[in-house]
Amino acid sequence: MVASIIILSIREIIMINLDDFSSFYVANWKLNGDFEFIDNFLKDLKTPKDKKKCVVICPTSIHLDYLSKKAVDVFIGAQNISSHYEGSYTGEISAKALKELQISFCIIGHSERRQYYKEINQEINLKAATLVKNQITPILCIGETLEEKKNGLTKEILKKQLLESINSSCNKKNTIIAYEPVWAIGTGLTPDLKEIDEVHEFIRSCDSSFVNFSILYGGSVKSNNSKEIISLPNVNGALIGGASLKSGEFSEIIKD
Ligand code: PGA
Repeated sequence: MVASIIILSIREIIMINLDDFSSFYVANWKLNGDFEFIDNFLKDLKTPKDKKKCVVICPTSIHLDYLSKKAVDVFIGAQNISSHYEGSYTGEISAKALKELQISFCIIGHSERRQYYKEINQEINLKAATLVKNQITPILCIGETLEEKKNGLTKEILKKQLLESINSSCNKKNTIIAYEPVWAIGTGLTPDLKEIDEVHEFIRSCDSSFVNFSILYGGSVKSNNSKEIISLPNVNGALIGGASLKSGEFSEIIKD
């Protein structure tokens, strides 16, 4: 009886309270990495002493359990989730299964999923709901394409994506927003600092409930630009793709 209560309580994942952290560094490994890569990455990784910095690594789904058993001082996140709770949805992964693996975060609505897998805001909204219900923190991505930017539609697009894809159960304690201009992802291009801060400020002002949300910037973040981006008043951290695949480079980004 006592043993089963202990096992139950160990397995009972308590949702991260985002208010406990001052900044967030999320590594999005996309479809990269294998077991050997993970071993080497962890060997060279230097995590910050400042425990107010929240470091999250998001490997492929296959590697979630392996990484979570090996990694120290980092949280583990998934890159996607089914919008369904369970049922006849071949190939999907449920939030309930992530919860069983004690996964704390999950990226949703990444532009690569919107673009290649035709994900729409309404589906992303359901994904956010199922994550929150399972005590997993959604990292909700929004961002405009180059064409939309050129046509002056950035704010309109971001507002629509955000209002339609954020679920009513999301709040500043359980959900992170990530602004990733599509044209900045993997290109080496970034908006200038003033522009990044202005867009983040705009996101906060879209709805009174967003004011205190943690908002990350993503798109070509590297060790040579991360500090100045993250220190912007309206930026609470970064979502890092390519540069998060190099342990030394990522350690530099998350350094105290
Ligand atoms: P990048 O990717 O850092 O390689 O531009 C960011 C992302 O897609 O999340």
